[in-house]
Amino acid sequence: MADILELISSRKSVRKYLDKHIPDEDLHKILEAGRLAHSWMNVQCWKFILVKNQETKDLLSELSIGQPQVKNADAVIVCVADTQAWEDAKITHIQKPALNPALQCENGILIRSLEQVIYPVSYMMLEAHSLGVSSCIIGAFGSEITAVLPEVSAKAKQALNLNDNQIISTIITLGYDAENKETVKVRKNFDDVVFNEKLS
Ligand SMILES: Cc1cc2nc3c(=O)[nH]c(=O)nc-3n(C[C@H](O)[C@H](O)[C@H](O)COP(=O)(O)O)c2cc1C
Repeated sequence: MADILELISSRKSVRKYLDKHIPDEDLHKILEAGRLAHSWMNVQCWKFILVKNQETKDLLSELSIGQPQVKNADAVIVCVADTQAWEDAKITHIQKPALNPALQCENGILIRSLEQVIYPVSYMMLEAHSLGVSSCIIGAFGSEITAVLPEVSAKAKQALNLNDNQIISTIITLGYDAENKETVKVRKNFDDVVFNEKLS
């Protein structure tokens, strides 16, 4: 078994990539790691769009406030939260909103949908790292939720064939490390974030 803590400790965000393609087999493994992630009531309210096309990467870079790693990545995974998935799952035996996001208000469904996608994103990045593929999460991008760059967002959604219920939650850039920087984990101290029984 791979040491997951070692994998987590050595992963870092990389924003400059070599001009070298990631084999399709490895991209498939990365996406498979996302597909196998866990979710509330196993609803799996996500879609992962693998983008290699330069025109689409350029558009996603524009959506990401011009971040160059998006257009320079060998491949990009657009992670989509599908707010309709809860309804589609037709979980009729649970009639309490606290237990079934399908019964919650629009905001509740939105938050729950976006929340689920965090897990496959993390798994995909760790799988990529285990294969020697570097990555960076892109969270700074325009969307209909934040009302940042609404025109570019509409254009990107159209290019990706997303409907109104499908929201881009995260963009993952993938490529081989051209930075070759040492991994320095800048993190708060263990005792500053972990507590026994209550905060001190
Ligand atoms: C939700 C989220 C959004 C992020 N958005 C961006 C981004 O838009 N651009 C970027 O370069 N890095 C982005 N990052 C990467 C963080 O800057 C990075 O993870 C953090 O500085 C820690 O560094 P490390 O990943 O190398 O450990 C994002 C990370 C997360 C978790």
